[in-house]
Amino acid sequence: MKGIILAGGSGTRLYPLTVVTSKQLLPVYDKPMIYYPISTLMLAGIREILIISTPADLPDFRRLLGDGSQFGVAFSYQIQQNPEGIAQALLIGEEFIGKAPCALILGDNLFYGGGLGDKLKIAAKNAEQGTATIFGYYVSDPERFGIMEFSKTGKILSVEEKPQNPKSNYCITGLYFYPSGVAEKARRVTPSERGELEITSLNDMYLSEGKLNGLILGRGFTWIDAGTMDSLVEASTFIQMIEKRQGVQIAALEEIAYRYGWISKEMLLHSAEKYGNSPYGQHLLNVATDTFLC
Ligand code: G1P
Repeated sequence: MKGIILAGGSGTRLYPLTVVTSKQLLPVYDKPMIYYPISTLMLAGIREILIISTPADLPDFRRLLGDGSQFGVAFSYQIQQNPEGIAQALLIGEEFIGKAPCALILGDNLFYGGGLGDKLKIAAKNAEQGTATIFGYYVSDPERFGIMEFSKTGKILSVEEKPQNPKSNYCITGLYFYPSGVAEKARRVTPSERGELEITSLNDMYLSEGKLNGLILGRGFTWIDAGTMDSLVEASTFIQMIEKRQGVQIAALEEIAYRYGWISKEMLLHSAEKYGNSPYGQHLLNVATDTFLC
């Protein structure tokens, strides 16, 4: 199973914050935004991850994340020349994906909640067995998102991109799991009215073949698309609240790698030392010395 993070775009909705810095490198409380989607892929058990960004920003991601060995994963990097839709990420990543099933996550999407890892693993299993999975989240402003409509038995009936008359309040979040052959299918997507290769069009193809599953992230989950000024602040406040209350770190990548057995205690301690006396570094030290147990 492979994973792609789409961290491109010009971030104009966040100007002037994003004039010289990529949106996905902006802080969400105490970490760069991209740490959160990386953690989501890692929780799904994915260790081969392609990061796609603009020609100007890609070197910064490389400088921040390196080859991934520090986190027990392997990062590859590729450029998106122009932001021409989410489905384009699967074309850019065609060679990286090869014949594997692949997850795709947007670099500004944060997922949090107990049991998230289990839901992600269900989606990964579906992908390995030949079907795609999308995740639904109840929102009060459905016109702004991709929307899924589903039956009482949980079967998806339709998917629509930013509908004027939404058939439900369940937003399709920016996390998608696809079976082998997804790049070939993505090549058949034609640009929408706004000139983009819409991910919803690709999902619709899986739906018409009876190969699209929908998993609902219920009230116990938090999903934030941190791509606007307000949601960026909300994301920071949310992360701060949980981390301070519980004395934990959300999206501590080395912690996930260590708990999954992908890095040794020595490597964890090495990272802890590198981050020094920041809360992140202290947390890694606590994990290594077992003073933090959950
Ligand atoms: C994109 C997708 C949309 C999805 C949303 C989630 O919207 O097109 O289907 O619901 O991400 O963040 P965009 O960010 O392109 O407006």
